Amino acid sequence: MVNKHSITAKAHPNIAFIKYWGNQDNSLRLPSNGSISMNLANLNTVTTAAISQGSDHDSLELNGIQQSGPVLVRVQQYMDQFRNIFIKHEHLDIKSTNDFPISAGIASSASAFAALSTAAANIYDLDLTQNEISALARLGSGSACRSIPTGFTEWKTGNTHEDSYAVSIAPENHWNLWDCIAVIQSSPKDVSSTQGHNLANSSPLQYARIKDAARRLDICRNAILNKDFETLAEIIELDSNMMHAVMMTSKPTILYWQPTSIAIMQEVRQMRKNGIAAAYTLDAGSNVHVICNGNDIQKIEDLLVGIAGVNKIIKSPVGSGASVVSLT
Ligand code: DP6
Repeated sequence: MVNKHSITAKAHPNIAFIKYWGNQDNSLRLPSNGSISMNLANLNTVTTAAISQGSDHDSLELNGIQQSGPVLVRVQQYMDQFRNIFIKHEHLDIKSTNDFPISAGIASSASAFAALSTAAANIYDLDLTQNEISALARLGSGSACRSIPTGFTEWKTGNTHEDSYAVSIAPENHWNLWDCIAVIQSSPKDVSSTQGHNLANSSPLQYARIKDAARRLDICRNAILNKDFETLAEIIELDSNMMHAVMMTSKPTILYWQPTSIAIMQEVRQMRKNGIAAAYTLDAGSNVHVICNGNDIQKIEDLLVGIAGVNKIIKSPVGSGASVVSLT
């Protein structure tokens, strides 16, 4: 198979400060509430897309392994949705690599679909704005729309495909915050985010969580703009706890926390009492993201590795948005 040319795009995953959990529209991934996150510079997905010569389906190689199961189906369905919007017909050969664990509460689908939508928009020669690419990334994985713009980003819910995208609220060099991820589990989680979003409305707590979202978003956005760590810490811990309360009270119930996750949350609260700028947040997994001030990173790492059950620490400062890295 000879390829005309290829585009390689890079994107970082992001960690949500105010979480996306539940959709108003599942097929378009229009979220029930807005969300805010920061991109993670040290974690990368690099994706190359090439027009497939004469093939009637998209192919996907992920971390060197040719895919044939549900991961491939998700990407093929996404590319079909993408092509329908722009009336394109050629299929793609896609190769993607991640330098961090997949499906373990470190949002690999976010960087995956951010990199893929950026590569696809370019290989099909579409002249799109950043907002349009962000909306396209969202169709693949909701949180992916937040990995398109740079630094600290906010995804406003929107009401249609076109107006549901993320924008940057502050650039990557705005604030020297780091995410220090205490990895407990690197294997794929039992309940995927997509399954979890579908269950969110079965929790009696989801209504209250959504109703209060605008208030939390305002507090979080202002805390970022004012570099007010104490306020940020309180709101991101509250928001993480609220999302996990919804998960735990869904039907069927989802419980991502492990005993080690709780031990870390308690340690982080103790760190704050001792004057260290640190706050916890957990996505759909047991790993704990400790958001902290860059100056405290070594102290925090030393404390976290001392907790039984912590296998590895991954550290990252704030990252840029998605970009094209090469064209051949
Ligand atoms: C808990 O974006 O992974 O990480 O749209 O089904 O791919 P899909 O879901 P996804 O959900 C992310 C959920 C979260 C919170 C967040 O990142 O906002």
